[in-house]
Amino acid sequence: MNQKPQSNICVIGSIHADLSLRVSHLSAPGETVSGTDFQLSPGGKGANQAAAAAKLGGTVCLLGRIGSDSFGESVFSRLQSAGINCSGLERDGDLPTGIAMIQVDAAGQNAICVAPGANAAVTTDYLHRVKRLIDDASIVLLQLEIPMETTLWAAEYCAGQGKLVILDPAPALPLSDELLGHVGIVTPNDTELSRLTGIPLTDDAARLAACKALLTLGVKTVINTAGEKGVYVYSGDELAHYPAYDVAAVDTTAAGDSFNGALAYAFSVGLPFSQAVEFANLAAALSTTGYGAQAAMPTAQQTAAASCLPKKNL
Ligand code: RIB
Repeated sequence: MNQKPQSNICVIGSIHADLSLRVSHLSAPGETVSGTDFQLSPGGKGANQAAAAAKLGGTVCLLGRIGSDSFGESVFSRLQSAGINCSGLERDGDLPTGIAMIQVDAAGQNAICVAPGANAAVTTDYLHRVKRLIDDASIVLLQLEIPMETTLWAAEYCAGQGKLVILDPAPALPLSDELLGHVGIVTPNDTELSRLTGIPLTDDAARLAACKALLTLGVKTVINTAGEKGVYVYSGDELAHYPAYDVAAVDTTAAGDSFNGALAYAFSVGLPFSQAVEFANLAAALSTTGYGAQAAMPTAQQTAAASCLPKKNL
């Protein structure tokens, strides 16, 4: 698929400098582990989702804040080179650029800790200053690495303007019914789905019950990104299942971000819902085949070339 976007995407969210290391195993409390392949690269769930959509060919604007420091400069120039409209980004005079320290183990699993820095200053006042950029978009992506009151304002404003609001509830935090009531699509992974609903995902019946619980809180559609198990979709009828693609994953960091960005891109070029989910499922799988949050996110051509990949049979 390489179609011209019919609508603009706006991502309102976090921007980090990711400091990543490959390790044989994730460090235990009190343990020092030796790592290799140190990387400083742009990250943050907001920036990653913007990069995923832009790399596919989407028209994407990223709204957020960085510090007036060298990490901020490095991240800014790389996001701009990725084709993202960064004209609304602000540099904070006091707070540093947010950072994430990431360990990636031999199985591609990660452990991440984050210092939000300037992401904590993504306020509703800031969003008012850049409102014309929000108004230009019809698809809006939100996550949970900026202040909750800002996310709530953004969801309410955008839903009120008839925009499609997609919320990636990551990292897992308690969410108000008020916020969920403004969300068109919520995209929890298994941990987030379970934490949001208090339902352990022991089997398919429990997964369905958890999705139903989110719908009763006001969300219109749940897209549960379940890692190796693939993707589950629930909008009130049956739980639809899209098995995962069988790829050799080396780093799962930002696979969820890749999914969200690709989903928004697919909607922006007019793909029907189930094709958009399948497209995002494939893009997310491909994003795990290289090291780093954004480096292996695929282009539209790479995604098209991989569409015959086999599915996992779990
Ligand atoms: O989702 C992956 C991202 O989480 C990383 O890029 C890191 O910055 C954290 O925000």
